[in-house]
Amino acid sequence: MVIHTQKKLLVQALSSAKKNDKIGFVPTMGALHKGHISLVKKALEENDLVVVSIFVNPTQFNNSADLQKYPRTPEDDISLLKNLNGKVMVYLPEISDLYEGSVSAKNYNFGGLENEMEGKHRKGHFDGVGTIVNKLFRIVKPDAAYFGEKDFQQLQIVKKLATIEKLPIRIVGCPILRENNGLAMSSRNKRLSAKQFEESAIIYKTLKEVREKFNTASIAGLNALVAERFLQNPNFKLEYFEIANEKTLKTAKRKNKGSKFRAFIAVFADEVRLIDNIPLN
Ligand code: PAF
Repeated sequence: MVIHTQKKLLVQALSSAKKNDKIGFVPTMGALHKGHISLVKKALEENDLVVVSIFVNPTQFNNSADLQKYPRTPEDDISLLKNLNGKVMVYLPEISDLYEGSVSAKNYNFGGLENEMEGKHRKGHFDGVGTIVNKLFRIVKPDAAYFGEKDFQQLQIVKKLATIEKLPIRIVGCPILRENNGLAMSSRNKRLSAKQFEESAIIYKTLKEVREKFNTASIAGLNALVAERFLQNPNFKLEYFEIANEKTLKTAKRKNKGSKFRAFIAVFADEVRLIDNIPLN
């Protein structure tokens, strides 16, 4: 496995590979877990060579404490990737290799996708994601790029980004991997105490209850049910729960026939923010 810390050298290595090889790309912020590894495995199945970037992108954090406390485990990440069978190239840059001059984000219009849910609660977040993913796409020039459905809104936005930036990259969404108690795998889970980790089962349990009742209950009724479940558990603070149209990500007012719906949730366990989602129909 080769590790590059400079885009110049990564581009050089890739330009000789590109002639014959299909290139898959998995962008990450490190603190890799089984969810990331499943993306890399899928990319290895479908490509000859896979680039994994590890970069905690400052412009997508709207909260400096969250950025500071984001887990950074590059040595563990590298040993996890070394265990995989297949050609993997790691890109592990410093900030200055990706942001020359000012560390700032471009303003994007993703057709309104950026204004819903995460966009409402994390101002500027998707400008930061769009900026870094666009930079990385232009460096790696992959045939396909792999994103987890845990960040379902990000996945939809990256699909839109590829269209806006006219980048011929196949964007592949991959299923959420869960811990035994149902908690969606996330790098932020490393910040939970053992008790918080155990009790976080409430998130997926509640989403499954919503899915079970989706055909019979009203949307207002389901919103009230989720609020109630979290009121009963003071160790978790519900930031938002929304049932939204899967395509537009707009809040669903009623269950229109022919539309696909998904439930989305963001919850705080003290200062650790956890998100999850589930398809409903
Ligand atoms: O999902 C993530 O880890 C990040 O948002 C991404 C796509 C690597 C961009 O920094």
